[in-house]
Amino acid sequence: MPVLHAPPRDLPPNETLRRILTSRTVILADGTSNELHSETSGEECVAMYRFLKDNPPKIAIEIGMAYGVSSLAILTALEENQCGQLISIDPYFGFEQIRLSALKAIHDSGLSERHRHLQMVSETALPQLISEGVTPDFVYIDGHHGFDHAFVDFFFADRMIPVGGTIAFDDSQWRSVHRVIRYLRNHRHYEELNVGLQKSFQSANLVNNVYKRIQNRFGPSRYFRKTDDWKPPSSFYRNF
Ligand SMILES: C[S@@+](CC[C@H](N)C(=O)[O-])C[C@H]1O[C@@H](n2cnc3c(N)ncnc32)[C@H](O)[C@@H]1O
Repeated sequence: MPVLHAPPRDLPPNETLRRILTSRTVILADGTSNELHSETSGEECVAMYRFLKDNPPKIAIEIGMAYGVSSLAILTALEENQCGQLISIDPYFGFEQIRLSALKAIHDSGLSERHRHLQMVSETALPQLISEGVTPDFVYIDGHHGFDHAFVDFFFADRMIPVGGTIAFDDSQWRSVHRVIRYLRNHRHYEELNVGLQKSFQSANLVNNVYKRIQNRFGPSRYFRKTDDWKPPSSFYRNF
């Protein structure tokens, strides 16, 4: 008997998303099923959906698509806004069945028309999008979580978004992602937005919890809006 998990109230109105989050199971294209993991949580989906309803983007970019949970939340908002396109970037190295199941979930929700998937790594996809002249209003960074990758994702996202655009980081409590956020705070002008998510310092043990609080390193997602185009001179460097 499948175990059903209670999703948060007010999930984006998308039956496929609700089913995936409730069953924590994804049906793959070959008919087998996988346990859901590494997804954007239900609470984060609610926050992102509401944010995008209040701040409708013309173009949103998502780095890291996986089973398509965040894609469904974003696309549901765009569809309700009757405006906007989502570009998802994920290479799916060795995960063809997962790629097909994410695309099927989007198709079954009637959202494919607003969606474009680039089966590439973000470090090459983002420069390609720059050369195409793509200027997203919203970029969600949830791909490779290593510092170098998260930093490169931020670097290109910052180059692409106009003043007033927003960059959201998932898993902000990771040391690597937190470092990128500290860089952003010291070397760019962004304001942090409250999207209604509870700060979490959750850790495996008390020591880590205290350490995270001292560092103010919390999750789950954090949102930053660009306030101007300021960049420091190349001689400027503040330890971050
Ligand atoms: C945490 S999962 C994304 C979860 C997704 N946002 C969701 O809510 O279901 C991370 C994804 O990043 C992808 N990924 C890994 N390296 C990447 C890279 N260099 N560029 C883009 N995506 C990458 C992985 O294939 C994986 O599907």
